[in-house]
Amino acid sequence: MDFKIALIRGDGIGPEVVGEAVKVMEKIGTRYAHRFVFTDTLAGGCAIDAAGVPLPKETVEVCKASDSILLGAVGGWKWDVLPGHLRPERALLGLRGELGLYANIRPAILYPSLKAACPLRPDIVEGGIDICVVRELTGGMYFGDRGRRENAQGYGEEAYDTEAYSFLEVDRICRTAFDIAMKRGKKLCSVDKANVLESSRLWREVVLRVAMEYPEVELSHMYVDNAAMQLVRNPKQFDVIVTTNMFGDILSDEASMITGSIGMLPSASLGASHCGMYEPIHGSAPDIAGKDKANPIATILSVAMMFRYSFGLDAEAAAIEKAVTMVLETGYRTGDIMSAGMMPVGTKEMGRLIADVVQ
Ligand code: IPM
Ligand code: MG
Repeated sequence: MDFKIALIRGDGIGPEVVGEAVKVMEKIGTRYAHRFVFTDTLAGGCAIDAAGVPLPKETVEVCKASDSILLGAVGGWKWDVLPGHLRPERALLGLRGELGLYANIRPAILYPSLKAACPLRPDIVEGGIDICVVRELTGGMYFGDRGRRENAQGYGEEAYDTEAYSFLEVDRICRTAFDIAMKRGKKLCSVDKANVLESSRLWREVVLRVAMEYPEVELSHMYVDNAAMQLVRNPKQFDVIVTTNMFGDILSDEASMITGSIGMLPSASLGASHCGMYEPIHGSAPDIAGKDKANPIATILSVAMMFRYSFGLDAEAAAIEKAVTMVLETGYRTGDIMSAGMMPVGTKEMGRLIADVVQ
């Protein structure tokens, strides 16, 4: 079959890691007789340099005309001085909003061969960690009303950002989370701050309502501060976590670190259609850009998620995941996951090794 994939290589290490993911897709294409048609398009800092804006209209059009999008990373020091609406990160938020990608799925899996890279005590992670964070992605404080105004008490200028959630927004992200829980360990933890925030109280009401349709799923609620603590105290208690845009941003970084390296973790952003955006959860890492040091595995695993969630290509996805596991078990490591006695490789070599096993 033919699949149209928009490639947003982006900034920093983005082009390097996407390059390796493309290598792997090409091998999958040969092995399973699929044709992947790639269209390169600009977003982030490179788009600011080329077109003056982080998310050119044309990029949105290319993405909308594709079956899926693979994104490397956007941002870098060079553009940090720009005002908020012109920063490279706006491209990500714009794409999420324009394409209606309201569900962000971030699995955090501790690979047995990477136990040494996990910063938690071995007894805490004994038996492995496999958490899936489902983050709401097009609502809450990220998209709420914001601005500057004169402070009412006469304290001068103040800035505000608003956290607002509608019934519908909570309802659909909960359904995504319950559906995922049904396919996994049937445990769902909803994270909120209902002891303080009204938006969290509505969130909880909706979760409870949707839960009635999923009697098999064991549901719990946790305040976000406690959740942050529980993630390092006893991460094994979690299966699926569903939460808001802001809390999910924070907790998914925390969850990723307990698996050893942020360089390992893929993500999927999904909406109502099959077209999703897939990206590693790490950033553009300008300090190591262009040095053949970045770990391409998160991006390669993002391709596996694309195959599974957008294309229904389960065998192809499994082939990629198996290849990653095999290469790690053989002992190859990029710098971020290096430990004593392992074989150091660069970005390109890691990509080639995985692509060869896929073939
Ligand atoms: C993420 C990132 C983004 C976010 C930034 C770069 C805007 O941290 O995808 O988690 O906050 O959503
Ligand atoms: Mg983040």
